[in-house]
This record gives sequence, C-alpha cells and structure tokens, in this order.
Amino acid sequence: MSRPAEPLPGQVAVISGGSRGLGRVLAERLLGEGWKVATFSRSSNEQVEQLQTKYPDDFLWESLDLGDRVALRKYVAAVARRFGGIDLLVNNAAVLNRQELFLTTSARQMDALINNNLSAPIALAQACARVMSTNNSGQIVNVSSINAIRGFRGVAVYSATKAGLDGFSRSLARELGPLNIRVNSVIPGFFDSDMTTEVTDQNRDRIQKRTPLGRLADIEEIADTVQFIISSKASFITGQTIVVDGGITC
Ligand SMILES: NC(=O)c1ccc[n+]([C@@H]2O[C@H](COP(=O)([O-])OP(=O)(O)OC[C@H]3O[C@@H](n4cnc5c(N)ncnc54)[C@H](OP(=O)(O)O)[C@@H]3O)[C@@H](O)[C@H]2O)c1
Repeated sequence: MSRPAEPLPGQVAVISGGSRGLGRVLAERLLGEGWKVATFSRSSNEQVEQLQTKYPDDFLWESLDLGDRVALRKYVAAVARRFGGIDLLVNNAAVLNRQELFLTTSARQMDALINNNLSAPIALAQACARVMSTNNSGQIVNVSSINAIRGFRGVAVYSATKAGLDGFSRSLARELGPLNIRVNSVIPGFFDSDMTTEVTDQNRDRIQKRTPLGRLADIEEIADTVQFIISSKASFITGQTIVVDGGITC
C-alpha cells in the first residue's frame, strides 16, 4: 500500500497563538507551502498584519482568548465554514506567567495556567476533531514542554499542564486513530521567544551548560520538528511525544 501523499495545497491548519513565536513561524511556513491558515491570539501586531497583506485569501486571524471556551468553538465552526474543513490543529498557544514558587502561587494563577494550557487545548482538539472526523482524516499536534518530563523550580503548575497535554495526546491517538486522525506531542527545550525573555543570563548560561549540544534551540528547529511530524514522512507516527531539546533531558 502506498503512503499518503504530502498535504495538498489548500489544506487547512488551525494554529493557536500564531501572532508571534513558534506559532507565527509555523503559520508563515505553512502559508508558503500553500496551506490555508487560521490562527488567533488576544492581540494583533505587525507580524499578523504582514501575513494578512501577503495572504488575504488564505490567512485568517482573529482576536480570541483561550479562556473563552464558547468563542473557541464558534471560531472553529467559522473556520470550517470559511475554508471547507480542518486538516490540522496545532495547539501552540500557552502562557507561562512570571515564574512563581508553588507555595506562593495564587489559586487564580493556577486556574489561569490550567485553563489556558490544558482545558483550552482540549476543547480546541474536540471541536477540530469533530470536523476532521467528517473527513476521516486529520492531525493534531500538541506543543508541550520539557517541563512535562523534567522538574524545574518555579514552574510546577505549568509543568502539570504540559504533562497533562502529553497524556491527552496518547489516549486521544488511540481513540482517533481509527478515524485516521494522528495525534502527537512535540516537546521543545528552551528557545528564544517572548515567553523566555525573563530567563536571566545566569539561567540561560546554566541551561546551555546542561544541554549536550551547548546552546538553546533555534525556533526554526522546533518548527522543523512540527513540520516533520505533520508530513507524510511521519505518516505512521501517532500517540508519541517527540522531544527536541538538544539532549537536556537525556
Ligand atoms: N519558548 C520556549 O522556550 C518554550 C519551551 C518549551 C515549550 N514551549 C511551548 O511552545 C509554545 C509556543 O511558545 P512561544 O515561546 O512561541 O510563545 P510566545 O512567543 O509567548 O507566543 C504565544 C502565543 O500564544 C498567544 N496567546 C498567549 N496567551 C493566549 C490567550 N490567553 N489566548 C489566546 N492566545 C494566547 C500569544 O498571543 P497574545 O499574547 O496576543 O494572546 C502568542 O501568539 C507554547 O506552548 C510553549 O509552552 C516554549
């Protein structure tokens, strides 16, 4: 039996948090390959405006908050209507507020982390998987973190959300496999983005020293891994956690 072909131009991706960081890099790459890309974030910026100008028909951005579950479902329905289906969800958006020791983390901060980083991706996955199931094909990539598999001070609740996402990926892969929907987690190590601007030089130095490859990841290397996992070259990979961290967790 031949392998599935590369995604046809015109396939539809939903990427949460595509205004900057990894989501923005992925959005631009997929648009360049002929995908239609729907993304959202709370606020727009110059990078979003550039993509809107360059891809007026294929790029859709909306202002949306992960915390608004009803709006998320309406958004997915609107994307499916506008583009005629959904082939890929990248659950990329997440928050890592100021690093905070567990004993002093407020209940509000904990709830926000769990809602944004775990409950919202699960809700998005359900809404998108329902659309994918009507087409009997699709893919979900959950962007996790090495905090899910190694302990770090100051990020206990964030780590819990990412570990939860990995467990979700595995079980969902079992359930959706028969519908020809693949589900995987990509687990990046540290890379430069707005999320990591608060990492002090001292911590950055420590991370680099503990990383066998001796540096932080380039954001493009994380995007390469996501692109591999959604390609036909990974057509038999599902339910896995793919670590891309320069070896810091080995
Ligand atoms: N950077 C790292 O070193 C690192 C390491 C491991 C894993 N990761 C994971 O990789 C993924 C991407 O990280 P990144 O560093 O590229 O992040 P980033 O630069 O901080 O970008 C996050 C994106 O998500 C959006 N977003 C955040 N909160 C949102 C909300 N409540 N509602 C809607 N959109 C929201 C942001 O836009 P708005 O703020 O305008 O809403 C932005 O578009 C995340 O899942 C992160 O946990 C990152």
